[in-house]
Amino acid sequence: MGKLALVTGGNRGIGLEVVRQLLDRGWDVLFTVRSAAAARGAVEDLDRRGDPVLVDVTQEDAARVLLDNLGDRKLDALVHNAAVALNGFDADVVRRTMAVNLLAPMRLTDALLPQVADGAQIVAVSSGMGELSSLPSGARRRLSEPGLDPDALRALVATFADDVAAGTHMANGWPSSAYKISKAGLNAWVRWLAPTVAPRGIRVHAVCPGWVRTDMGGPNAPRSVQQGASGIVWAVERADEVTGDFCRDEQQIPW
Ligand SMILES: NC(=O)c1ccc[n+]([C@@H]2O[C@H](COP(=O)([O-])OP(=O)(O)OC[C@H]3O[C@@H](n4cnc5c(N)ncnc54)[C@H](OP(=O)(O)O)[C@@H]3O)[C@@H](O)[C@H]2O)c1
Repeated sequence: MGKLALVTGGNRGIGLEVVRQLLDRGWDVLFTVRSAAAARGAVEDLDRRGDPVLVDVTQEDAARVLLDNLGDRKLDALVHNAAVALNGFDADVVRRTMAVNLLAPMRLTDALLPQVADGAQIVAVSSGMGELSSLPSGARRRLSEPGLDPDALRALVATFADDVAAGTHMANGWPSSAYKISKAGLNAWVRWLAPTVAPRGIRVHAVCPGWVRTDMGGPNAPRSVQQGASGIVWAVERADEVTGDFCRDEQQIPW
């Protein structure tokens, strides 16, 4: 058996291409889909390769469904790719965005860690939109606090949603973008997780794919899905000891 990867949101866009490139490189790949039709379409697209798992990453029992599908096998790579960039901006958009882009990767990783092999790679597909330099100073300061553990991070994004609901988010130093905070939060979580799992040799990376032509990126983006996926696959297969970093095009970029 080859090495095993799990990729969330593997039925279209960058995720589908990550699945394809990993399969081409000899990996076995489980990937999440949200409908039987999407599973059929993706497997067709992948020349009948890959193992789709029907799961919405925000659902209560998502981790259990994934663990059931893993059985005794351990993961050599876990790629958190599924995400949304919703239209509009209000507290509901903030909460739904955080649920998919930040809270699901945190919760799934927590539950799956016993099935993640020592020496594996965890890759969080992030975005330059989450760079600290792009945030108002209040959000930048809160999201770069060194002691930001998962409980503090969950509390922080709940405060963001509450501030948006109260109409006080700008006065309190937040941007008017749920997506930005979700990705800055994902990066903060990567910085926390890397030293936490380092004793097991597990390495953790945030990767920005650049601006890519997908449903999310739109038709005017300069990059193909192949270009967007390649930096993610590179991070999955990294042989060096680097962990807790943020990369685009195989180069480190600032948090
Ligand atoms: N495209 C860009 O320019 C760009 C730039 C920077 C970063 N990124 C990041 O790259 C990653 C992939 O983006 P993309 O452009 O490929 O996006 P996309 O084309 O919109 O695809 C998003 C994927 O996430 C899945 N997904 C969404 N919500 C989910 C949920 N609750 N449970 C399970 N799966 C869910 C979607 O499944 P369904 O088909 O079921 O909706 C789909 O497979 C994301 O993390 C995104 O933030 C993209």
